[in-house]
Amino acid sequence: MGRTTSVAAGSSLRTAIAGVGMIGQVHLDAVRRNGAPVVGVSASTPARAKEAAAALGVERAFDSSQALVTSDDVDVVHICTPNGAHAELAELALRAGKHVVCEKPLTTSGATADALAALAAETGLVAAVPFVYRYHPMAAEARARVRDGRAGDVRLVHGHYLQDWLSEPDDTNWRVDTVAGGPSRAFADIGSHWCDLVEWVTGHRIAELTAVSQTVDRTAEGAAVRPDTEDVVQLLFRTDRGATGTVTVSQISPGRKNRLWFEVDGTRTSLAFDQENPESLFVGSRGENAAVLRDPAVLSPVAARLSVVPGGHPMGYLDCFAAFVREVHAAIRAPRAADGPAADTTWGTYPTFDDAARMVRLTEAVLGSAADRSWKEVS
Ligand SMILES: NC(=O)c1ccc[n+]([C@@H]2O[C@H](COP(=O)([O-])OP(=O)(O)OC[C@H]3O[C@@H](n4cnc5c(N)ncnc54)[C@H](O)[C@@H]3O)[C@@H](O)[C@H]2O)c1
Repeated sequence: MGRTTSVAAGSSLRTAIAGVGMIGQVHLDAVRRNGAPVVGVSASTPARAKEAAAALGVERAFDSSQALVTSDDVDVVHICTPNGAHAELAELALRAGKHVVCEKPLTTSGATADALAALAAETGLVAAVPFVYRYHPMAAEARARVRDGRAGDVRLVHGHYLQDWLSEPDDTNWRVDTVAGGPSRAFADIGSHWCDLVEWVTGHRIAELTAVSQTVDRTAEGAAVRPDTEDVVQLLFRTDRGATGTVTVSQISPGRKNRLWFEVDGTRTSLAFDQENPESLFVGSRGENAAVLRDPAVLSPVAARLSVVPGGHPMGYLDCFAAFVREVHAAIRAPRAADGPAADTTWGTYPTFDDAARMVRLTEAVLGSAADRSWKEVS
């Protein structure tokens, strides 16, 4: 195993970010909000890295992402490149002793994801993946109400994750290219977020599933190419604890920008959360229905802790990232005991490479099921 970067309590966590497109800049903001210096960035070319460093006020532009993730001057690396580059960079970073935050999907194959998760465990370094919707206070409130019994036993889980950025014939992005994006697009890109979130809220795991997928033939509408990867996935599943569920995942739903919505129906109450309206949680019952508003005074302790501004001052996606990075930094400073969460956090559940590897395997089960029209078990 390579060098291990040790971080003394109180010292700053020198962070470098590989890839500073949309999400890399969100990471940069979250790291800075947590008081850590972003010491370097990389991009697709050295020239672009220089431009980005100047524009973002970062001192160092690395000539390559490989040089960034192995630099002696860095403690924590954030990998925010297109999917196809994640595996190589995450492995190099772990072997060089860096704590790693790697974007989802962790890799584009289940075997590689499992190998990376095993490597991360072997090193003892913090290896996290930003399934950040876990950090919406009202999603955390839903989880708390399942855990403390107010929802009762979970019987049914359902919802959707809809976007529209690929709904016009000529829409495109690196995600459509299987080398940069991987063999799954809609499910790996956003379905994995939905599944991670509902598993985390319910404590159930998707144990078996059957899927249908659809790829629209845009050439009939005048587009030059037809993507190889799926635009839509519809999933029917059973959990390890006897609940059933469905989810529709789409990147071709006009008007739907980032519509992640789920409902968990328990024996006592139903709980519904909408990522685009994250300041409230629907709580349904046979008596009165309620929209519980985000107000730290009335929320469960964990949701109140994530509520960093008073009710009525809307929180959102960027706050989720900041909370995620806060927890990653806490875990780096106070490593997890072998048998439990980081000693100095009450949260202690940041999404790990293990969680992300599970989502990559689940994605493979979805693709396999859609291809041969069968039920698949998820390990
Ligand atoms: N967790 C989330 O909520 C979330 C949201 C969006 C994207 N993502 C993930 O983040 C990653 C990036 O997505 P994005 O939306 O920011 O894409 P993007 O296209 O906005 O940015 C990617 C950037 O990486 C650069 N790049 C390409 N190859 C590189 C390399 N080898 N080294 C350094 N930079 C390189 C590109 O030029 C581009 O600037 C993807 O894996 C995506 O799935 C996660």
